[in-house]
Amino acid sequence: MRPSSVIAALIATALLTFAPGVGRVHAIEITYLAPPGEPARAFPKPERPVAEIVSPSRSTERQRDAFDESGQLARLLAIRPGMTVGDIGAGSGYHTVRLSRLLGGGGRMIAQDVTQEYLNQLAERIKRLKLSNVGLALGEPHDPRLPAASLDVAILVHMYHEVAQPYAFLYNLAPALKSGARVGIVDLDRPTSQHGTPLELLRCELAAVGYRQIALHQLAGDDAGYLAVFSPPTHAERKRPRDIVACKTADR
Ligand SMILES: C[S@@+](CC[C@H](N)C(=O)[O-])C[C@H]1O[C@@H](n2cnc3c(N)ncnc32)[C@H](O)[C@@H]1O
Repeated sequence: MRPSSVIAALIATALLTFAPGVGRVHAIEITYLAPPGEPARAFPKPERPVAEIVSPSRSTERQRDAFDESGQLARLLAIRPGMTVGDIGAGSGYHTVRLSRLLGGGGRMIAQDVTQEYLNQLAERIKRLKLSNVGLALGEPHDPRLPAASLDVAILVHMYHEVAQPYAFLYNLAPALKSGARVGIVDLDRPTSQHGTPLELLRCELAAVGYRQIALHQLAGDDAGYLAVFSPPTHAERKRPRDIVACKTADR
């Protein structure tokens, strides 16, 4: 992306998020917030199935509220007012809308997704709810395309098994995280072909890029899944694309 395109993208997103003319959401394309990182071809492909993108959400919001999924994430990840949180694979924005209220006027929520249609629908929802601290960002399957050192916390909820290029995606996500930031991944401990990610596989794929697991929680609630918390690698700790070795799994 040329510098002029980057500036145009940033202005478009600022307009979309903060301008009184936010009603014109469809007139402004929701686009990338940062230039491309490393291309997918530099990384190994995952040696396991990748689940198809089939829906912008997991179960109903009512079911999720019954066990306070968003509140659990906020507590376990110590999300506080004033922080910047990235909802990567935000879909219909279950966590985006709830966490944006917690972050308050001094904080910022970045709802990111690879499916433009889901982002358009989420833009309407944000407008309807008058949430002024939410920005929208388009990503690519191998690259979240988020600004450098912008996030205190990234949440990846029921989406990791759909990431087509996990090694490139994790590599390109790392620079968007501030020093001391955490990545919280929520998923079900079952094969990727069944819309989950076995814990051993998750740990292996994150470690392959240089992420370190720092906590693991079982979320309270029926079929709520796990929350695995990782610390991203620094620039020096991040594995070089050619040194990354794909993890093996029995799930094929
Ligand atoms: C099952 S939905 C979950 C949405 C939301 N996180 C939730 O918990 O309700 C998975 C979402 O991940 C998105 N997605 C899949 N691959 C992605 C990628 N590589 N980067 C960002 N989003 C992705 C899909 O478009 C979809 O919106």
